[in-house]
Amino acid sequence: MEIIHISAECYPVAKAGGLADVVGALPKYQCKTGHHAKVIMPMYETKFLLQHEFDVHAKGSIYLGPTHLDYTIIKEKNNTLGFDLFLVDIKGLLDRTMIYSHADDIERFVAFQIAVLDWINSWEHVPDIIHCHDHHSALIPFMMQHCYGFKNKLAKIPSVLTIHNAQYQGWIGLDKSFYIPTYDNWKTGLLEWEGNINSLASGIKCAWKVTTVSESYMNELKWNSNGLEKLFEYEKGKCIGILNGIDNEVWNPQTDSFLKHHFSSRTVTNGKKKNKQVLCNQFGLDPSKPLIVFIGRLVGEKAADVLPDSIMSCLYTMKDACSFLILGSGESQIEWQLQQMNHQFGNNYHAVIGYNEALSHNMYAGADFLLMPSRVEPCGLNQLYALRYGTIPIVRSTGGLQDTVKDMGENEGFGIRFNNATVRDIYYSVERAIEMYQNPKQISWMRKYMMAIDHSWESVINNYANVYQQII
Ligand code: ADP
Ligand code: GLC
Repeated sequence: MEIIHISAECYPVAKAGGLADVVGALPKYQCKTGHHAKVIMPMYETKFLLQHEFDVHAKGSIYLGPTHLDYTIIKEKNNTLGFDLFLVDIKGLLDRTMIYSHADDIERFVAFQIAVLDWINSWEHVPDIIHCHDHHSALIPFMMQHCYGFKNKLAKIPSVLTIHNAQYQGWIGLDKSFYIPTYDNWKTGLLEWEGNINSLASGIKCAWKVTTVSESYMNELKWNSNGLEKLFEYEKGKCIGILNGIDNEVWNPQTDSFLKHHFSSRTVTNGKKKNKQVLCNQFGLDPSKPLIVFIGRLVGEKAADVLPDSIMSCLYTMKDACSFLILGSGESQIEWQLQQMNHQFGNNYHAVIGYNEALSHNMYAGADFLLMPSRVEPCGLNQLYALRYGTIPIVRSTGGLQDTVKDMGENEGFGIRFNNATVRDIYYSVERAIEMYQNPKQISWMRKYMMAIDHSWESVINNYANVYQQII
């Protein structure tokens, strides 16, 4: 089957979060099972671009409203990612170092989508599946079916939209509807939601199948999806939750190139101890205490705003009972608060503000516990990486966290779960973690148990194949 993934992110080409991890791995494992999966994404100015060789594959031009834009499709020469990688270069629009947060993101991602379809429309054949990811490519199903320039050839190609996060929807004011290539006007309703063009809503209406990244999140979307609740209720017949996998070749404590000390489940106690020592030395923390880490975007969705008060409350009340290490970037107020605390808690706390892939791997390996108080967590990959590295997850019961972490109070439980993203619940969970830490036998059993859980892509890949089969 020829499967075309269209995405704004793909690890290691360009990553802001878990979307990149999924798009960097799912196609690779699809190729391993005999499919021909490809990824098309924007060409940003990233390190990957400079470190790899590319061939010019195609050239074309499009209109974004009245603006004429030339595009070039380049292909990575050596197939280093295990699948064909195509980048869309639109000079002056996509070739920036940062993926998102530009004033003209609407123009950038609409132009990207038009260029992708313009190119696919020029092929001699049609692919079997178009698989879009999140709102940056969610206008594609509409455009394939209703834009005059594309529909003759592309309308019959089955399309899938995977929603990694429904909080962000790609809203476009109706005054910019002329960006979309000419379409049947009476189809406008398929683009709109509550008075705007809403890219994600359009994708949900027009894609042949809609998936999201865990079953619990699929259910939650019907009552909590940033305004799209009714739409998810109407369209539930074509929606399905498929839990993400992880790339065991990248996330493997036995081979991880970012780690100084490798370990397996057999050597986990010693291995984690050594990695913890490295981390603690680096940040002036005391390795004898349980180390609790947070890694992620510092935004409300991740409940990062409750971190400062929660950590302060733990460190003031429990004194020297544990240490915290934070890695993240996001809202400036939260960044500032977390950074200020670096001066207050001596060897019990450190926050690193920024994005640091190497450090994140070392934190999964060296930490005792990973805290994820997320208000919304469609799947969450951090807790899956933590499991693989023998780090006990402390999570709020929501979305994918709920589907992948079982509280230690349950039979064969291996983590800590709580209900509310509040200082009180986090405090109470940290207390439970510290108590558990006093019991090395329990910790050792848990680490081994967690590391043996199979969240590989191999174990879930068939779920996608089944979705494709249903619509082909
Ligand atoms: P989301 O995609 O919502 O941010 P996920 O849990 O699915 O959440 O994935 C987050 C991914 O981004 C993980 O690979 C995590 O290790 C990584 N990550 C998040 N923040 C940082 C950071 N500041 N530095 C390094 N890696 C990070
Ligand atoms: C999103 C979600 C996260 C999920 C990731 C990959 O960014 O916030 O929960 O794991 O996508 O699907």
